[in-house]
Amino acid sequence: MKIQPVKGTRDFYPSEMAVRNFIIDGWKKVSIRNGFEEYDSPILEHLAMFQIKSGDEIVEQLFSLKDRGGRDLALIPEITPSLARMVNQRINSLPKPIKWFSVPRLFRAERPQKGRLREFFQWNIDIIGTDDVLADSEIIFTTIDYLKYAGLKPDDVVVKISSRKLLAAVLKSLGIADKDLDAMYALLDKKARLKLDAFEQLLIEKVSDKKTSAKIIRFMETKNISEIKKIALNDEIEQALYELTTNQHYLNEMGVSDFCRFDAGIVRGLAYYTGIVFEVYAKGEQLRAICGGGRYDNLLKDFGGPEVPATGMGMGDCVLEILLREKALLDKQIKKPELDYFVARFGAVGEEPLKIIGKMRSMGYSANFSYKMGSLSGQLAEASAQNAKNCIIIGEEEIQKNEITIKNMQTGKQQTLPMDKFMDGLIRPK
Ligand code: HAM
Repeated sequence: MKIQPVKGTRDFYPSEMAVRNFIIDGWKKVSIRNGFEEYDSPILEHLAMFQIKSGDEIVEQLFSLKDRGGRDLALIPEITPSLARMVNQRINSLPKPIKWFSVPRLFRAERPQKGRLREFFQWNIDIIGTDDVLADSEIIFTTIDYLKYAGLKPDDVVVKISSRKLLAAVLKSLGIADKDLDAMYALLDKKARLKLDAFEQLLIEKVSDKKTSAKIIRFMETKNISEIKKIALNDEIEQALYELTTNQHYLNEMGVSDFCRFDAGIVRGLAYYTGIVFEVYAKGEQLRAICGGGRYDNLLKDFGGPEVPATGMGMGDCVLEILLREKALLDKQIKKPELDYFVARFGAVGEEPLKIIGKMRSMGYSANFSYKMGSLSGQLAEASAQNAKNCIIIGEEEIQKNEITIKNMQTGKQQTLPMDKFMDGLIRPK
């Protein structure tokens, strides 16, 4: 029987692993330079945790199982609920605000499609314990800082920013009841993925009058903050607009506003968002969101903790990788690791080369050799393929004279050095 990998999962051969490491190393580096500390959580959580506040879409996509004690568990589809659980557990001892990042392996039983798999990696950055809009701006800034680090420019990507508070206030002003808001968010979040008439049809079924549905669509298509006031206005809307303009101001001061624009059509699929929300898209490409996030001030309370404000972002590796490939940013930046020494051996040299390899490795140098003791030219070709900086050549003559020959693989220059001094680390090739 030929065994295939599970649908929606990936094998990482060394070349794919190099891409994954490039992406994850960048996420970690950018998190640290923006002041975030790393945390992690288990891959299994109680199923109920995701049924509380993640929203129907996530619940439908859960990989769940029963343990031997009959407990319902799930492979985590996102880490935000685990983060809320962890922070709640130590709420009194953790100095706030908390700025944490994580790169979990996540599972969602999605229909596999371009940029969406069933197993993926997701960079998370979150700030917990402040309701300052500056924290939302910092999450957006850090996201852009990574996009820039990866080589993407304002011509390539756009950060679309809106506010769940604004959307809720507008919907309520149009007569949508509080209890229907979550279902409305789930529907409105699908707008960009549906044909306009199909979306309109679904919306009319929910709001049951054409005038309201037209107003909602007009709102969602607004790309200018000042236009909103013409659709609806009350204190809650004013407050949400004030937060949005403050955020714009901070992003401008931090020098990244050329990546950002207001877009009232950004809703976010997850149920727990309460304030500023954003998503990043590739410009001119039919790709799903590169990442998304926003403020979620009630999640810790919903999980039995105190009321603690929070904001954050999640970025998967799949759409990002597609985009970096399309923009030819991967090959340029992923370098094959260099090998300090390749040891080529030929003739009756016995175990002497092994001593050199062992010594080099234990001194902290990277060193490798060929299992096939073929021709010298064959071994030199292997040294090049392994990106060796130097090739140590050991033949019978070298052993007799107690010397080693070292070829600099870049310049092609060869030097002969006394073996003992080289082995004692007293002398190195020039
Ligand atoms: P999300 O919008 O569900 O948010 O996912 C965020 C990102 O994860 C997406 O934009 C995408 O890059 C990636 N992603 C989601 N599903 C898949 C999939 N099936 N395959 C590949 N990539 C995927 C959240 O998960 C929130 N917990 C983010 C957050 C953190 N909000 C606040 N803090």
